[in-house]
Amino acid sequence: MRTQIAAANWKMNLTFQQGEKLLDEILAAEIKLKDHQKTIFAVPFPYLTMTRSEVSDEKNYYAAAQNCYHKKSGAYTGEISVEMLHSLNITYCIVGHSERREYFSETNAILAEKLNLCLENFITPIFCCGEALAIREAETQNEFVAQQLSESLFHLSSEQVKKIVIAYEPIWAIGTGKTATTDQAQEMHAHLRSILAGHYGENIANEVPILYGGSVKANNAKELFSCPDVDGGLVGGASLVSKDFIEIIRSLK
Ligand code: PGA
Repeated sequence: MRTQIAAANWKMNLTFQQGEKLLDEILAAEIKLKDHQKTIFAVPFPYLTMTRSEVSDEKNYYAAAQNCYHKKSGAYTGEISVEMLHSLNITYCIVGHSERREYFSETNAILAEKLNLCLENFITPIFCCGEALAIREAETQNEFVAQQLSESLFHLSSEQVKKIVIAYEPIWAIGTGKTATTDQAQEMHAHLRSILAGHYGENIANEVPILYGGSVKANNAKELFSCPDVDGGLVGGASLVSKDFIEIIRSLK
């Protein structure tokens, strides 16, 4: 069975104390994850050490960064390097969230550099892709995501691509309460997998977890995750409410 992941993306929300309380409440549920299941908390940078000390990799709970810089090190005031994340024993990092692409002008080429640095530093990138509403309405979403993948990923070797996680996040579904239907999600995830298969072969394509993100909630997670090519979710709003995120973790296949 492919790895199945429930990933919380706190974004720029919660004070440190609120974050601690939320994490405590979720961990108190003591959900025993199976070997192929993982729960990941992508928290704000200053909270990484707290989260890292509370979660336990052996139990398949991990702390993650929401972003990293695309240069190795140097005079980039305010930025956080991948090497710094690695030195805190962080093993996951979201790369290319649509909010980073839109508000911080991150291009496919910049994201390709981030992926390289993550892989060099033993960090699994959760690479986000997905189209805006206008692209979906023009029915060109398949070509759009294919370009995102080819420009950011296709320089990677088969060995490297096996180590990444992809998150399909249609922008029109993020924070809007408008979730993709299971048919839309499954169709796009199968398409993404076929793009990977075309470049890397079926075996590799079948190993890469593809998460769905965009208004995943406690009441739709099970249905979405039941799609054969949906391997869990990247969850914003609902990851900020302990009982909701607990339910989402429990919905993993
Ligand atoms: P949402 O956010 O669950 O609030 O739609 C998802 C994301 O941006 O990762």
